[in-house]
Amino acid sequence: MNKALRKAIIAGNWKMNKTRPEAKALLDAIKPLVANAEGNVEVVACVPFTNLETAVNATAGSNVKVGAENVHFEKSGAFTGEISADMLVEVGVEYVVIGHSERRQYFGETDETVNKRTVAALAAGLKPIVCVGELKWERQCNITEEVVGRQIKLDLWSVSKEDVKKVVIAYEPVWAIGTGLTATPEQAEEVCAFIRAQLAKLYDQETADAVTIQYGGSMNAKNAAELLAKPNIDGGLIGGASLKAEDFNVIVQAAVNG
Ligand code: 13P
Repeated sequence: MNKALRKAIIAGNWKMNKTRPEAKALLDAIKPLVANAEGNVEVVACVPFTNLETAVNATAGSNVKVGAENVHFEKSGAFTGEISADMLVEVGVEYVVIGHSERRQYFGETDETVNKRTVAALAAGLKPIVCVGELKWERQCNITEEVVGRQIKLDLWSVSKEDVKKVVIAYEPVWAIGTGLTATPEQAEEVCAFIRAQLAKLYDQETADAVTIQYGGSMNAKNAAELLAKPNIDGGLIGGASLKAEDFNVIVQAAVNG
């Protein structure tokens, strides 16, 4: 395994936080702090739909990329409340979070719709950040690999070898999200290595080695360096700690130095 074969990506997932002026202020604070990551670590801010244009303008000319938090799989039509991949591209968005556990838990997202959204995002030229992860009781029942293996297989169904290299996989154990409970570096590494092995089975080793796999779930300024030092953890998807410029930057610097 060689980490140098793939891009390190630190992405903030702001969830349902920040008004437009707040979004601009946060990005203005983040930009100078993370400027040194350019060419080494990709820095992404995934923001609510209403903040996308503000974020694209605020980050213009900087090394901070903008992502959305969801995307619909149809190109257009009678889908009230949804946003298409082409709409995101037109605003200047590069990344999109797909299948976050909050979407799966609260909004009925399934592996089938996650797959359809992933395929649509890739077709439009977006880079999907596909989230997978087990529930607490699934870990307790010792079926983490079964659950995550199934998600990987279904969520990436029909995605080609060329396209899967543009996909970022975020391993987010549901029990670690917003709870302050972080997976230990060993637990996180074990599942990220398993995900890479699954990718090697579905595609081949060269392809698996090219895919960025992030850890997410209470990653913060204190625990990031240890997690990011693991051979199969190529980055982080950060919730709470991405809402504070200094904390987010500590995580970015841990990736730069890691
Ligand atoms: P927290 O970092 O707040 O636990 O959230 C993680 C997450 O869900 C990122 O997508």
